[in-house]
Amino acid sequence: MKLFISSDYREMSVIAARAVARQVLMKPDSVLGLATGETTKGMYEKLVTMHDQQLVDFSAVRTFNLDEYYPIEPKDERSFHYYMKHRFFDQVNLKPENRFLPDGSTENPKEECRKYESSLAQAGGIDLQLLGIGSNGHIGFNEPGVDWGTTTRLVNLENQTVKKTFGSDSSAPTKAITMGIKNIMNASQVVLLASGGQKAEIVEKALTRPVTNEVPASILQLHPDLKIILDEAAAGRLPKKEV
Ligand code: F6R
Repeated sequence: MKLFISSDYREMSVIAARAVARQVLMKPDSVLGLATGETTKGMYEKLVTMHDQQLVDFSAVRTFNLDEYYPIEPKDERSFHYYMKHRFFDQVNLKPENRFLPDGSTENPKEECRKYESSLAQAGGIDLQLLGIGSNGHIGFNEPGVDWGTTTRLVNLENQTVKKTFGSDSSAPTKAITMGIKNIMNASQVVLLASGGQKAEIVEKALTRPVTNEVPASILQLHPDLKIILDEAAAGRLPKKEV
C-alpha cells in the first residue's frame, strides 16, 4: 500500500487527478471505475481542467460508476447520474456509449445488475478504481456486514447513508445498486481518497486494524496495488509510523 498525505483537499484532488491522467496516458483505452460524493468533486474539476488544457484525452476510455441510488430518476439532482453528467461527462470527450452507470430508474434491478456485470466483463475488468470511504467504512455502497464475494446487486442502505444525502426526506430511496467487493478487489489498481477530520477515525480503523467486514474498506489492505490519498485532517489518527 502506498500512502500520500497532502496538506489539504485541493492538493489531494490534484494528486488523484494526476493518478487518473497518468493511467489514461499510459493506456488510452483504460477502463476506469468511478466514485461520486463530496470527496471526488475536486478531482473531477481538476480532470476537466486538464482535459481543457489537452493534457488528457478520454476519447477511448470506458468508465463504470460504482453505484446509484434506487429508485431514483437520472434527472433527479441528487442522483449519481446527475452528478456525473454535470461535473464530468458533459465537460470531457468521453463517448456516451463508453459511460456506464447502474440505472436507478429500472423496473428490473436484478436484470440491470446482470447487464452491468456483463458490460464489466466485456470491458475486460477495471484498470483503475477510484474510491471514497463512508463514515461507516463502506466502499461503493457495500455497507458493514458485506460478503467479500459480492458483485453488482441491489442493497439496503444504512440509515446514516440515506440521511447524509437526503436528510429526513421520507420519500428518499433506501436502496442502491452497487458494484460489489469482488469487483473492487479485482481492479488492477485501487485509489482511495479521504478528506477531512470526520473521516480520520474510519481511515484509522480501515487501514491499521484487522480486516473485518464490519469495516468494508479494511479489505483494501489485501489489495496488491492500493494508493491511499488523504489530506492531513483525514490522516490525523494514523499512528506516526504509518505516516
Ligand atoms: C459514491 C460511493 C460512496 C462514497 C462515500 C464517501 O459513489 O461509492 O462510497 O465514496 O460515501 O462519500 P463522500 O465523499 O460524500 O464523503
